[in-house]
Amino acid sequence: MDIRQVANKDKYDLAASSYDLIAYLMSLGQATRLYEEVANRVDLPSGGTLVELGCGPASVIPSILKKTDKSSEIVGIDFSSNMIDIANRKKENNGWRNVRFECMDMYEYSPSKGTDTVVFCLALTAMPDYEKAIEKALSILKPGGQLLIIDSFPLHTKWYHSISNLYIYLKSMVVGAKPVGKIINLIREKTDHFEHQEMVLGVYTLIDTRKRQV
Ligand SMILES: C[S@@+](CC[C@H](N)C(=O)[O-])C[C@H]1O[C@@H](n2cnc3c(N)ncnc32)[C@H](O)[C@@H]1O
Repeated sequence: MDIRQVANKDKYDLAASSYDLIAYLMSLGQATRLYEEVANRVDLPSGGTLVELGCGPASVIPSILKKTDKSSEIVGIDFSSNMIDIANRKKENNGWRNVRFECMDMYEYSPSKGTDTVVFCLALTAMPDYEKAIEKALSILKPGGQLLIIDSFPLHTKWYHSISNLYIYLKSMVVGAKPVGKIINLIREKTDHFEHQEMVLGVYTLIDTRKRQV
């Protein structure tokens, strides 16, 4: 793990107990709406597998569980043990039988079979090397599998984007994220059936796309 990753892990361990409150405040009170919109986009076949990379304290998992059937397998990966402890407590308290959490660096996660859906929920810009993170997600997806990403990326197409971009940069300084607009084009170039939707006046972008068929 490189030094930037170690610093990141310590930061998330420290923030774990207040993470859901921080996410609520930083998203201008829209966190639940963001999570529900991600869940609405999930297209998981019956018995399929969904992996969330950088799952934190399982913030989006309740919304995903409402939209998927119990035969599916939901896996959350995070390298912060404090985040995973909270996620596991939520699993116990809510009896999520088809959910499991693994505490590990997501670059080391290597499932034995291809994944149907990979989710980065507010996590991609938290990773120092976003290209490597996208490559990892594509490597564990089945051909045609779904890649769902929600994050803050600077946008430049509407008049109010200069205001939302300012908020994105200020927020990134507080949470230590790396908001880079070219991530959107990079994902578009590497995948098929690319769709994106802006939310909360451009502060968030939801990307729904597919790994190329070989
Ligand atoms: C901003 S939080 C997002 C949490 C959650 N997904 C949500 O919906 O709010 C980013 C998470 O990514 C995790 N993370 C960052 N880099 C990681 C890596 N290389 N491997 C595993 N988890 C990582 C952090 O520990 C943190 O919990």
